[in-house]
Amino acid sequence: MDIAVIGSNMVDLISYIDKMPKEGETLEAPDFEIGCGGKGCNQAVAAAKLGSDVMMVTKVGDDLFADNTINNLEKYGIDTEYTVKVPGTSSGVAPIFVDPDSKNRILIIKGANKHLSPQDVDGAAEKLKQCGLIVLQLEVPLPTVYRAIEFGNEQGIPVILNPAPASKELDFEYVCKSDFFIPNESELEILTDLPVETDEQIRSAAMTLVERGVKNVIVTMGSRGVMWVTKDDVQTVSSHKVDAIDTTGAGDAFIGCFSHYYVKTGDVLEAMKKATAFAALSVTKRGTQTSYPELEEVEEFLKERV
Ligand code: RIB
Ligand code: NA
Repeated sequence: MDIAVIGSNMVDLISYIDKMPKEGETLEAPDFEIGCGGKGCNQAVAAAKLGSDVMMVTKVGDDLFADNTINNLEKYGIDTEYTVKVPGTSSGVAPIFVDPDSKNRILIIKGANKHLSPQDVDGAAEKLKQCGLIVLQLEVPLPTVYRAIEFGNEQGIPVILNPAPASKELDFEYVCKSDFFIPNESELEILTDLPVETDEQIRSAAMTLVERGVKNVIVTMGSRGVMWVTKDDVQTVSSHKVDAIDTTGAGDAFIGCFSHYYVKTGDVLEAMKKATAFAALSVTKRGTQTSYPELEEVEEFLKERV
């Protein structure tokens, strides 16, 4: 097993809108799409699509979305032994609104994801021990995330922590125990209380985390690229100019692709470059997982850009 994603799954209910209705107003919107999402699942699918062996520790409800989510994971060859149904609970859902500028607004109703517990991490221990990388986000309870980080440390398995959505309650002690901490610029702003308008400000904000003990901070900056900050170095990968249609799940595309290349090669900069291309391609299509490209498309795209 290459990668274990311990985290969330959601059903994305994506409305493509011209504008948001005001209070009391009813507006017609041009289009709608339903698809599998959730930051954890998105990251797992991105890595699996590229050829990693992925397992997912996650919880679904006992509603009509549950089997669909499990089937979707299996379609990508993801191991679902620890994808568990919670009786009497709804699956996680995410109403998403995408405007004509391709910008999104996302609500998450966590449902069964709230039930993923530290015991679930330990329950999957035997299989988790065989993984080369653990990938975490913040759509499941923090104690579960902390247990997964500890587990990775105990077993000598590297841990990627994607602090999304940002939580002020995130315990810094655990952030320091992760090997790669990968926020986007707005998460970095919330976590550090520092401005992130310019690249220089982002570098300084990330550096404060490094000074407090975080090993590797990788900040995804959307159309401005990606910055990797460590104690001794700062490296930036610029983004690719593309026509953005729907940016939903682009951050997850980056994390999943980065995880795949990192676990396969150990080359951080190369993984950042590949993941930047993978994420750029994903924003040119509608939807979340459905917009993730194939390996061949990524390679073709990178060839054209050199
Ligand atoms: O990061 C995008 C994801 O955030 C969506 O798929 C949605 O489900 C929410 O979890
Ligand atoms: Na997309």
